[in-house]
Amino acid sequence: MSSWVRAHTNIALIKYWGKENEELIIPMNHSLSLTLDAFYTDTKVLFDDSLNQDELVLDGVLQGHESLKKVQVVLNRVREMAGISSHARVESINHVPTAAGLASSASGLAALAGAASHAAGLSLSEKDLSRLARIGSGSASRSIYGGFAEWIKGYDDKTSFAVPVDDADWDIGMLFIVVNDAKKDVSSREGMRRTVETSPFYDGWLQTVDGDLTNMKEAISKRDVYTVGEIAERSALKMHATTLGAIPPFTYWSAESMKAMDAVRQLRKKGYAVHFTMDAGPNVKLICKASELAELKRLLSEHFDTSRLIEARPGPGLHVLTR
Ligand code: DP6
Repeated sequence: MSSWVRAHTNIALIKYWGKENEELIIPMNHSLSLTLDAFYTDTKVLFDDSLNQDELVLDGVLQGHESLKKVQVVLNRVREMAGISSHARVESINHVPTAAGLASSASGLAALAGAASHAAGLSLSEKDLSRLARIGSGSASRSIYGGFAEWIKGYDDKTSFAVPVDDADWDIGMLFIVVNDAKKDVSSREGMRRTVETSPFYDGWLQTVDGDLTNMKEAISKRDVYTVGEIAERSALKMHATTLGAIPPFTYWSAESMKAMDAVRQLRKKGYAVHFTMDAGPNVKLICKASELAELKRLLSEHFDTSRLIEARPGPGLHVLTR
């Protein structure tokens, strides 16, 4: 019972930002994302009585204790559900276009949830897979599904999971501007914790999420890419504003990120339906029509090296690979 399982990464259009329960990863707010074709993780798990500890091999390299910790949260839950005690060997390959810095815990932990439960002989519903992925990394709960997914925050382990919203089989895509930056990272885990605990702007963030989410779902149902992008951009700016009020303050923006945001505004002035979003790092992600990806890439290549511009379209949900 050991198969490769593939999960694609997702980018939030309404961000998950802040935890109500850190151990179970119950979020403070609902979030909504688009799963993408361009980035994914393949993972295989083998429970083996002859192992005397869990092992994680990522892109061919045996990982140390730190990386293993997140993985073991999921493995332990699977062992508990399946009533087994053997250690596991986890093999994982990240498929990320050459430009670095885009490896994602969303696809990684979703693929792990799929592969580990499969290897243990459990056949979980999508809802239960989403809950399992969630305890590894919150955003992974949404990567169980293709297209748009909403993570309903819930209030405990049973009620916090993602659901599919729309298969995104229409004219929407994303263009990544990969920004290289040597600045020391604040992980999303640390960033959201610090913001919840210390930023006076955090309450402001929470107040408008539900309204943005309602409007976002309506725009998705109308296949209105301009409004989807507009709400996503506004929501991302509000999330990023909270970090400036934290103690100590921080930002994920670099000078290059701001240059990219400005380029997006210029394209909008020219009449393109394009907006941006950003996560816990300096990369800028454009929300646009899939049919305009090539043209936007060409226009942006006047300002950014083409190797830093990556096109993405809606991607599929978690699936077992048959090779
Ligand atoms: C800014 O899911 O990586 O990308 O739950 O602590 O593992 P943990 O955090 P993670 O955070 C993602 C934060 C975000 C917004 C989002 O994806 O919704």
